[in-house]
Amino acid sequence: MENQVGRSSCRRQRVVLFPLPFQGHINPMLQLANILYFNGFSITIIHTNFNSQYTSNYPQFTFRAVLDNDSKDNNLAKLSSKGIGDLLSGIMVLNQCSEESLRQELDQMLIASKQQQEPIVCLITDALWYFTQSVADSLKLPRMVLRTSSLFCVNVYASIPVLEDQGYFNQANSVFDEENIDLGLKNIISPNNERDFKKPEGTELVFDLEERVPEIPVLKVKDISNMRIKGQTDPTAKLLAKMLKQTKASSGIIWNSFKELEEPEFQKICKDFPVPSFLIGPFHKYFPASLSSLLEPERSFMSWLDHQAPKSVLYISFGSAAQLEKQDFMEVVHGLAISKQPFLWVMRPAFVKGSEWIDLLPNWFLDLVGERGHIVKWAPQQEVLAHQATGAFWTHNGWNSTLESICEGVPMICSPFWGDQPLDARYVSDVLKVGVYLENGWGKEEIASAIRRVMVEEEREEFRERARCLKEKVNVSLMKGGCSYESLQSLLGYISLL
Ligand code: UDX
Repeated sequence: MENQVGRSSCRRQRVVLFPLPFQGHINPMLQLANILYFNGFSITIIHTNFNSQYTSNYPQFTFRAVLDNDSKDNNLAKLSSKGIGDLLSGIMVLNQCSEESLRQELDQMLIASKQQQEPIVCLITDALWYFTQSVADSLKLPRMVLRTSSLFCVNVYASIPVLEDQGYFNQANSVFDEENIDLGLKNIISPNNERDFKKPEGTELVFDLEERVPEIPVLKVKDISNMRIKGQTDPTAKLLAKMLKQTKASSGIIWNSFKELEEPEFQKICKDFPVPSFLIGPFHKYFPASLSSLLEPERSFMSWLDHQAPKSVLYISFGSAAQLEKQDFMEVVHGLAISKQPFLWVMRPAFVKGSEWIDLLPNWFLDLVGERGHIVKWAPQQEVLAHQATGAFWTHNGWNSTLESICEGVPMICSPFWGDQPLDARYVSDVLKVGVYLENGWGKEEIASAIRRVMVEEEREEFRERARCLKEKVNVSLMKGGCSYESLQSLLGYISLL
């Protein structure tokens, strides 16, 4: 960013950004804020009182808390340390009850900015804060959207009505035991839990789950089932529909992606979303995610990593929110043992349902960790992926993790849990071909075989070569004349003229 910092000396415009309070959403929003700051804009970050401990790392920004002025307001307090289903339900609640607080806060900011002769030119919010569009409209403030997922994922979400017309959601519902499907956002759960769901007696399946979906040929029919949506009346689908509608009503979309990665998806977005799209990512190439980390990364294993052979270590992390069932966890443990590869495993506290941390690990596995592995609660992920010893990344395919792996040319093993992750996993394995998708769950033999494919067997060279090419594409895209570079220049000009 150094070559663009010059504009900061004549700061006269302010941008207000509002992240969703989860790690995978905070990181890209704060990275975007830094990109704008170092290109001359003053920055205000609006945040909730939930997951906001990163603020001290950003003395250059002004922070304003909304929705938590009343200490008796339990809307946010209730959200902490709950499962993701509850957190996502929380997003719905906040979208429904926050309009007035945000309007008041923004109104005060607008008055102050006029007095200081530093106009607020734009509000940028996470796409899932769909309620912010009407607030911005009422204040005549342009609102742009940051979408933290892939373009592919948004295109699939936008196709839900078409997929429903074709009957795919009936299929999805018939595949799973209705008793196991809670109403609401808990529907977005792991394809790896699929084996827990039984086809009801006598149900005829119209589609073959392994077949491709003609409307979206990248997808298999089972990927639609894995979205765990019951059709357009499903609460998850309703949330997504509102997000898409208010994204279309915004002044533009900023994507943490780059054109060379998702060219056909970009064409489709341009056709379906009548607002400018700016693909300026990957954001972490400008500023590291670690600045907005909610957990303190451990570093004690770094000297161990330094002493490992090049590309010999499997890095394992399933992001900031996913949780694994006990029985699946044991399959992971056995799969790792069978694979015989060195590993660095990020295991957050409570990652395994019903356990504190590593308490469920058998003694023989703890011995194995001593011999050829490390387990940590949180790692400096970007640094680990960039390390010469890292040979593959076993990931849940959160979009940030996926991009971070692509940028370092590290092949992936894909074990998605929910939301956009199964879609990203399909894209990584079937379109980019830089990963093996463990699409049939957590069987130990399959796990060991996937690890060997990307790290040991001859095929690993093909994964590595494709991953290396993608890494090169990222670098070209970010250089002067590259798509991301040019798109960023357009975005800066666009915001300053809003
Ligand atoms: C969530 C969703 O899972 C994801 O699909 C969506 O696109 C964004 O929100 P999360 O599950 O946390 O995010 O995954 P991911 O998007 O990969 O973000 C995790 C971030 O935490 C990454 O930036 C990663 O570098 C960081 N991280 C993770 C660490 O810094 N250390 C770790 O040990 C693990």
